[in-house]
Amino acid sequence: MKPQPHITVILKNIVSATALTLALGLSTPGYAADARPWLDKSLNADQRASLLEKELTLDERISLVHGPMAMIFMPGMKLPEGAIGSAGFIPGIARLGIPAQQESDASLGVTNPGNARPGDTATALPSSLSLAATFNPDLAFKGGAVVGAEARSRGINVQLAGGVNLARDPRGGRNFEYAGEDPWLAGNIAGAAIKGIESQNVISTVKHFAINDQETGRNFANSVISESAMRESDLLAFQIAIEKGQPGSVMCSYNLVNGAYACGNDHLLNKVLKGDWGYKGYVMSDWGAVKSTDFAVKGLDQQSGEQLDKQIWFGEPLKAAVQNGAIAPARLSDMTHRILRSMFAAGLFDSPAAVTVDKTANAEVSRQAAAEGIVLLKNDGNLLPLAASAKSILIVGGHADAGVLSGGGSSQVTADTHQLALPVGGEGMMAAFNRMNFHMSSPVKALKDRLPNATIRFDTGRYPAEAARKAKDADLVIVFGNQWMAEGDDAPDLNLPDGQDALISAIADANPRTVVVLQTGGAVSMPWLKKTPAVVEAWYAGQKGGEAIADVLTGAVNPSGHLPVTFPVTIDQYPRATMPGLGLPEGQVFDVHYDEGADIGYRRFAALNQKALFPFGYGLSYTKFSYSDVKVTGGDKLTVSFKVTNTGSVRGKDAPQVYLEQTPAGPAKRLIAFSKVDLAPGESTTVSVTADSRLLSRFDDKANAWSQSAGRYAVSVAHDAEDAGLKGAATLPAATRKP
Ligand code: BGC
Repeated sequence: MKPQPHITVILKNIVSATALTLALGLSTPGYAADARPWLDKSLNADQRASLLEKELTLDERISLVHGPMAMIFMPGMKLPEGAIGSAGFIPGIARLGIPAQQESDASLGVTNPGNARPGDTATALPSSLSLAATFNPDLAFKGGAVVGAEARSRGINVQLAGGVNLARDPRGGRNFEYAGEDPWLAGNIAGAAIKGIESQNVISTVKHFAINDQETGRNFANSVISESAMRESDLLAFQIAIEKGQPGSVMCSYNLVNGAYACGNDHLLNKVLKGDWGYKGYVMSDWGAVKSTDFAVKGLDQQSGEQLDKQIWFGEPLKAAVQNGAIAPARLSDMTHRILRSMFAAGLFDSPAAVTVDKTANAEVSRQAAAEGIVLLKNDGNLLPLAASAKSILIVGGHADAGVLSGGGSSQVTADTHQLALPVGGEGMMAAFNRMNFHMSSPVKALKDRLPNATIRFDTGRYPAEAARKAKDADLVIVFGNQWMAEGDDAPDLNLPDGQDALISAIADANPRTVVVLQTGGAVSMPWLKKTPAVVEAWYAGQKGGEAIADVLTGAVNPSGHLPVTFPVTIDQYPRATMPGLGLPEGQVFDVHYDEGADIGYRRFAALNQKALFPFGYGLSYTKFSYSDVKVTGGDKLTVSFKVTNTGSVRGKDAPQVYLEQTPAGPAKRLIAFSKVDLAPGESTTVSVTADSRLLSRFDDKANAWSQSAGRYAVSVAHDAEDAGLKGAATLPAATRKP
């Protein structure tokens, strides 16, 4: 009989009888429990995965590549057998000692969806955008380590954490789960957080791959973008995060990219991720993002949250496809090899010592991260820090008497400090689940603790005229502006909801000594800005948020956060005036044209010479920093060194930024390096950074390589993306670098 074409291919690749057995999934248990060579720790993860993989039967292989959700979201639901209750579950294989994969969300802490683990609470970190605002990868690592340790202590070994989609649109519903608009910043912050998680013997999952940059119609949006543009922006953020963090897994996203669903996107998964980048881990789908069995051929390794898909494609249909030759057995082996490899690499087979969770220490990491992420946007007349002599302070709005706001959706942590949940309601499937959650860390209480001699009153802000009347009588007013954002929805505009802009305006009219504290998912417009001398962006500050906010307002912590996203004056400064897909019927695929290409946020503002309300990288301090002695050297690499001096009178941290301004081909604004330094008054330090050559190059899609032109590269050492900074330049040779 003439061999079938796919069999020919397999035979070409397979030389030994054992390998043939393995490829056809026919093997029988070969090792006694005490003779499992894959447990030999002197072998590397690949070798160990190969030894174990060849022991799997076809059914066992299939069992590793799909699994259900493991949460209770409807009364009467039961957890899958063996699941501890979390976002997802892949059963283990007892006869070979393969542990179950217990998968939990997400980057901000270990979640407990639908109270699947009754009463279980965890440390709630500030939002990832807040973490990015720290410009401090060390803090991101610490936060990741908190999440990883808390996951492992519960038996969770796969944490669905490491959101790194770029904030292309300030209205993006999940911007708070991501690390901003710049690939270098986002890649470094997410990469450090992922590394922190993996350091605790837990697999981390960078997500959502890729160009999943809006929530509106997220299952039907087709992101249309050129190859070079995505390589230089969204994909570069993933590439850097993967290099820095070495996540065991990548979660592909709901949307389509250039016509193919991201989880069935041969180009993104096989060509870019596994081919060009040599990624050795596995690709898991987002929950309900699989449309057919042949997604396996396109590069997807595991179907997750399978109840949400039309079929368990990677169950019986995949088995049948392997048996009838439609899908090569070697592909299935590759899928399971990748999963096992990541499990070995994270130490899941090596019974790491039990982890002890120090909740107090973890809460302290959350507090530090929140405080360092807070951005002081305006401080006219040094209204802040609050004078210890302030006698009467009125705090208005934002439920600041109860706690701090957190973002909604799968990343929502049930915090140790408990929370207040206000139903949001609305229409559609998610309406019943939409809850605006507040972590019970009250800024009002924290300020009362810190300012015992002041009279501090609180007004809910429900009646602006009444709040304004009280504001007149206070020495100073602190008014909160909240914007609740959640997975699944984008904001329609950049206003604060529920009339809060009018409230802030009325307060500022009544009392010129008004401080605004924003708790938002991303950028908002500030129609009242001219009237308010001080503005603080606190993001979603996590379970110690109230204390972090009070520490910054009182000066116990000198603010050092910098904006990881541009705050525009109006949405018209962005390429899409309305959110694409808005109002389309469910199920209708629509295109989102990313014509701005790699020029996201500040890059496009620079190209169009637009001025932001507050630019990317911006952030004030209670001290001042100056830069000097800029030296730029070329040759093989572009190196920039400079001196940072604290010229003010209090200790503080600065985040100096180095931007590419000009390449031989013309102007190009790009963040090529940043640092975080801590300096006493009068103290200086020298910072030296070397630019990653990809940030100086263009991606040449024809050559499939990064291409650096020969010539002069001009840079600036600056406080933010609009600061002219100190200039320098150097000459670099032409160079190409593999993709
Ligand atoms: C989200 C993912 C999440 C998954 C599991 C999906 O809806 O997009 O980020 O990890 O649910 O909860």
